[in-house]
Amino acid sequence: MPDHTDMTTYKTEFQRSIEQPETFWADQAKRIPWFTPPATMLEYDEQGHARWYTDGETNICHAALDHHVAQGRGDQPALYWDSPVTGGKRTLTYRQMRDEVALFAGALKGLGVEKGDRVVIYMPMVPEALVAMYACARLGAVHSVVFGGFAPHELAVRIDDARPKVVVAASCGIEIDRVIPYQPNIAAAIEQSEHKPDACIYLQRDQQRAELGPHDHDWAALMQGATAAECVPVKGSDPLYVLYTSGTTGKPKGVVRDTAGYAVALHYSMETIYDVAPGDVFFSASDVGWVVGHSYIVYAPLLRGCTTVVYEGKPVRTPDAGAFWRLISQYRVKSFFTAPTAFRAIKKEDPDGTLLQQYDISCLKALYLAGERLDPPTFHWLDDLLEVPVIDHWWQTETGWPIAANLQGLEPMPTKAGSATVPVPGFNVQVLNRDGEPAAAMEQGSVVIKQPMPPGCLVGVWGDPQRFHSAYMAAFPGYYLTGDGGYFDEDGYLFIMGRTDDVINVAGHRLSTGEMEEVVGAHRAVAECAVIGIHDALKGQIPVGLVIPKDGFDGDEVALENELIALVRDKIGPVACFKQVLVVNRLPKTRSGKILRKLLRNIADGKEYGVPSTIDDPASLQDVHDAMKQRDVGSAHEARQV
Ligand code: COA
Ligand code: AMP
Repeated sequence: MPDHTDMTTYKTEFQRSIEQPETFWADQAKRIPWFTPPATMLEYDEQGHARWYTDGETNICHAALDHHVAQGRGDQPALYWDSPVTGGKRTLTYRQMRDEVALFAGALKGLGVEKGDRVVIYMPMVPEALVAMYACARLGAVHSVVFGGFAPHELAVRIDDARPKVVVAASCGIEIDRVIPYQPNIAAAIEQSEHKPDACIYLQRDQQRAELGPHDHDWAALMQGATAAECVPVKGSDPLYVLYTSGTTGKPKGVVRDTAGYAVALHYSMETIYDVAPGDVFFSASDVGWVVGHSYIVYAPLLRGCTTVVYEGKPVRTPDAGAFWRLISQYRVKSFFTAPTAFRAIKKEDPDGTLLQQYDISCLKALYLAGERLDPPTFHWLDDLLEVPVIDHWWQTETGWPIAANLQGLEPMPTKAGSATVPVPGFNVQVLNRDGEPAAAMEQGSVVIKQPMPPGCLVGVWGDPQRFHSAYMAAFPGYYLTGDGGYFDEDGYLFIMGRTDDVINVAGHRLSTGEMEEVVGAHRAVAECAVIGIHDALKGQIPVGLVIPKDGFDGDEVALENELIALVRDKIGPVACFKQVLVVNRLPKTRSGKILRKLLRNIADGKEYGVPSTIDDPASLQDVHDAMKQRDVGSAHEARQV
């Protein structure tokens, strides 16, 4: 790692990407295989949003699998599956992967799935999850993967929105030592949803088999009777997938990803950001249910001819906090990517990093972290422990790939704790102040991206073009609103400080407090509520519900609190981590009656009214709650206004 760079290479590349986006991305487009190369690089739709490579024809499954087999990579491992929770391990070569995908695509075709049809995938971290995703891509069908930690209601909402022809699932997932049966969740979701898929396919796992009903199929049996399907050419702008993510309202947003722009952007990122070459091993410890999983477990490693590691386990307790070091060492991982929260969990169990000493991780060239801000204490712990660069990089489900990073394959730069380094070529990142003017260096504001967005970013919200515009484009015309606040320092380093809306980040998982408020507010005894994210030393943030019961409520407050916790778990799922509710007398409001959530967050974080800070000197959650409970939050606010 150099301690000094003049950023010349970076600045030249960045300037070219901004000043001549079409020629820049035309060059990059040559790096992936096409059935018909695009004649037009960039177009704008009727609302003025960028569309890349609309008239090119390709297929991402062809680019990631068939192409590499044809180029002589057939015998190279495409994926290593490692599952300490089941004791399973498996290697699939590129040829085996292509053949399995082609067969499963044939099976889907046999069930009537065609180009443009949607397929919902609800699977744990097994190779078949990737097979299912690629099989959809092979047919030009649109997959929508739903994370296993979501409850049936959330699955039902997604089924109703995406209207899939088929659901592909596993019979169960495994949370360390707990078997989570998936079939009851799927059955309950289909029961709740208005749209009824034609069929469900279950991958039967020995830990808990699914009992198949009249519309259900066994994965293995279907594969036996299937005929391999060829890749269907799709237009560059045809949708590859819909991935639902939390917004500020109860209804999740279906982020639509195109095909060619995504493939080109991911390929570029593997070279420029992650510095990996064909044949290298790339390990992203995320889940296929999140965007990191889509981009950097499933698609990018194989587009680049690398081997991807698919890990079914946790950073800790599978069997210990040395799990990541073992995997890196065993599979000779060159680039490793996870969320800071995972390392906070490891640090808690193994504060001196002694488990690392058992493994030779000399293969590792850099560690990448994203999903939430890399907090300086975790950065320093890792920086001291490892001999490789520790890279914080910032991105979102919507962008599909990093917006700001320390570009290891282009020009490595010194790292700064708390910063995601610099905007990635293609992303014209700006910080606007309250007046919508460019902020000065060190001045915080809304972080926005000037149009056109580079390839790979969302092209719409599924079934709701108006929401795409209102959520992202309306606030600052000509700019995409990221929803994050932050600032540039004097060296041009970007610091992302957190969301400016009601989205929170719990253990690297993006959740909506608005959605939780809808669930809590619907309870018969609740008059008003607010859900806020408060600091948590391990998970970054956790949600806390503040509730005012209806007049005349004379039940047990603790019983109500427990009921609300169970309700959110039942409706949204365990992943919401909704475990704290407080019954309060009043909530602070504006004169027009709007609850002041920001003020509540500040109170919880100790920035108002002298409550102990949870950020720099984490007090226990109980202290914060005690402090909030003691006060009548609404009257304290009014007193202050007076
Ligand atoms: N299926 C079913 N349940 C799941 C699940 C899944 N796929 N994933 C999580 N859950 C459950 C957990 O079992 C837990 O349930 P519990 O309340 O009964 O204990 C709950 O959801 C909360 O899970 P989580 O927040 O993940 O907590 P944890 O204690 O199990 O693990 C971490 C904490 C930090 C180790 C873990 O969250 C982690 O590895 N996070 C990294 C996330 C990540 O990679 N994000 C992608 C961005 S790079
Ligand atoms: P998701 O869409 O789940 O990837 O979550 C995106 C959000 O996570 C962003 O809008 C940020 O708020 C946060 N985030 C992701 N990576 C970083 C990072 N490196 N630094 C700060 N915040 C991050």
